[in-house]
Amino acid sequence: MDMKQAIKERHSVRQFEDRPIDEDTYIKLQQVIAKCNMESGLHIQLICDEPECFRTILSHYGQFRNANNYIALIGKRSQRHLKELCGYYGEKIVLEAQKMGLRTCWVGGTYSRRKCIANVRRTDKLVCVIAIGYGANDGVKHKSKPVSALCNLPTSQMPTWFKNGMVAAMMAPTAVNQQQFYVKYKDGQVSIKSRGAFMSKVDLGIVKYHFEAVTGRRVL
Ligand SMILES: Cc1cc2nc3c(=O)[nH]c(=O)nc-3n(C[C@H](O)[C@H](O)[C@H](O)COP(=O)(O)O)c2cc1C
Repeated sequence: MDMKQAIKERHSVRQFEDRPIDEDTYIKLQQVIAKCNMESGLHIQLICDEPECFRTILSHYGQFRNANNYIALIGKRSQRHLKELCGYYGEKIVLEAQKMGLRTCWVGGTYSRRKCIANVRRTDKLVCVIAIGYGANDGVKHKSKPVSALCNLPTSQMPTWFKNGMVAAMMAPTAVNQQQFYVKYKDGQVSIKSRGAFMSKVDLGIVKYHFEAVTGRRVL
């Protein structure tokens, strides 16, 4: 499965099958995470067979079921753009996991920080987590703002690669589906800015990853 397909098929899944991640998949996932940590300097960790993190009233409202595994997005407090980096590398892992047949849900609010058993050093910050496992369903496509509200180019003036990038950006998960980002095209260069809402720095990293993964172009 290529990246475009993984992006199209990824939706938040909050109900999982009650079975552990198989050994081969677990190893592959750990390799992806190790590579992301090496590239970014982050301290991302996969925690398996540990349901406590999602045993909270909020998680219950969020309808999590059999959420027994999660990825903890952690990095040094002093790291520049920590939240954006967690979004960028977290989504890279999410899409690789999608290709492996796993399903995911980013979780910034409806989990227990206290019950998260990842190793968070004194100088580290736990930014958020991603629930991961075999989906009891494949999730559903989210509603999206119109493309005109999300970028500065009218559809008629978009180069094909930019259009592809925008489609991928619009499919990106954002906290409470807020899509508080804006893509600018100027002199052949793309930049994406967040509009500063809840978790929007994490969202920004996620959206940048989608745009870059599909277009192969560096986004500022
Ligand atoms: C940074 C971030 C934080 C999120 N936090 C939560 C959360 O606390 N609880 C939850 O149920 N979903 C959470 N979500 C999932 C979003 O609600 C979901 O991604 C959005 O509605 C779009 O739907 P989709 O992922 O199916 O495309 C979060 C998503 C992101 C990107």
